[in-house]
Amino acid sequence: MLGIYLSGTGNTKHCIEKLIHLLDETAQAIPIEREDAVNELSKHDFIILAYPVQFSNAPIMVRDFIKQHSVLWKEKKVLCVATMGLFSGDGAGCSSRLLKKYGAKVVGGLHIHMPDSVCDVKLLKKSIEKNQEIIKVADKKIEKWAEKIKCSKYPKDGLYFYNRVAGFICQRFWCYRKTKDYSDKLKINHNCTGCGLCVRLCPMENLGLQNGRTTAGNRCTMCYRCISSCPKQAITLLGNAVIEQCRYDRYAKK
Ligand SMILES: Cc1cc2nc3c(=O)[nH]c(=O)nc-3n(C[C@H](O)[C@H](O)[C@H](O)COP(=O)(O)O)c2cc1C
Ligand code: SF4
Ligand code: SF4
Repeated sequence: MLGIYLSGTGNTKHCIEKLIHLLDETAQAIPIEREDAVNELSKHDFIILAYPVQFSNAPIMVRDFIKQHSVLWKEKKVLCVATMGLFSGDGAGCSSRLLKKYGAKVVGGLHIHMPDSVCDVKLLKKSIEKNQEIIKVADKKIEKWAEKIKCSKYPKDGLYFYNRVAGFICQRFWCYRKTKDYSDKLKINHNCTGCGLCVRLCPMENLGLQNGRTTAGNRCTMCYRCISSCPKQAITLLGNAVIEQCRYDRYAKK
């Protein structure tokens, strides 16, 4: 068993690490951008693929990863896990349909409600206590399903036709163009000190340093990792100012 995930602000990382650990203490969950991700994928028969939902779609980096390694999915057993701030309809279904096209046997879909990650938009902002409560409920759901998965019973979140209709009508129809391609809309303001943290963190290697300031390319997968970590709150994407940096580690009870 292997977990492969994309996580911008840490929610998905937490969820997949917890699930994998409960299922098999010896199994590991690795980020999709890690150099050995493809090699590890080829070695395992059961994959748990996890990612944050973006406008009721799987992030383009995840869709591209599936497509670029299409031959490796044949006959693999896959559980699709989608974390979300509110609602996705068919968040898990989006990758599941693609994986099936390449011969994967999708055994289930799991939707996990987590804190919102869009740091520069006011909508969905909650208090730390509320986010802690959301994480508590999410942890319970993961624990419940880990027990069932051990008995080969899988969740089917987001996999039914009506989920697909809901995802399409409520979000993809209106927002599809936002997730169709990588984004070139990242903005870096004059607060940037050129510390280089964002450059090191970006899973797409979309950021660089020039004349002591960060520059962004056009390969952003909108994960919000740089935006949620910049010590100067100098980066924005969908909005024009950071309202509050959203990171799982800010909410997690130690
Ligand atoms: C660009 C973008 C779009 C998002 N769209 C949705 C959405 O359509 N529905 C939803 O419930 N959450 C949405 N979210 C919230 C994230 O899916 C959610 O907070 C997720 O748990 C973040 O996981 P991460 O910390 O692993 O990146 C969106 C987040 C981003 C950055
Ligand atoms: S993390 Fe922030 S301050 Fe540091 S280089 Fe990136 S944008 Fe500039
Ligand atoms: S530029 Fe920032 S938001 Fe875009 S992919 Fe890189 S870390 Fe994620």
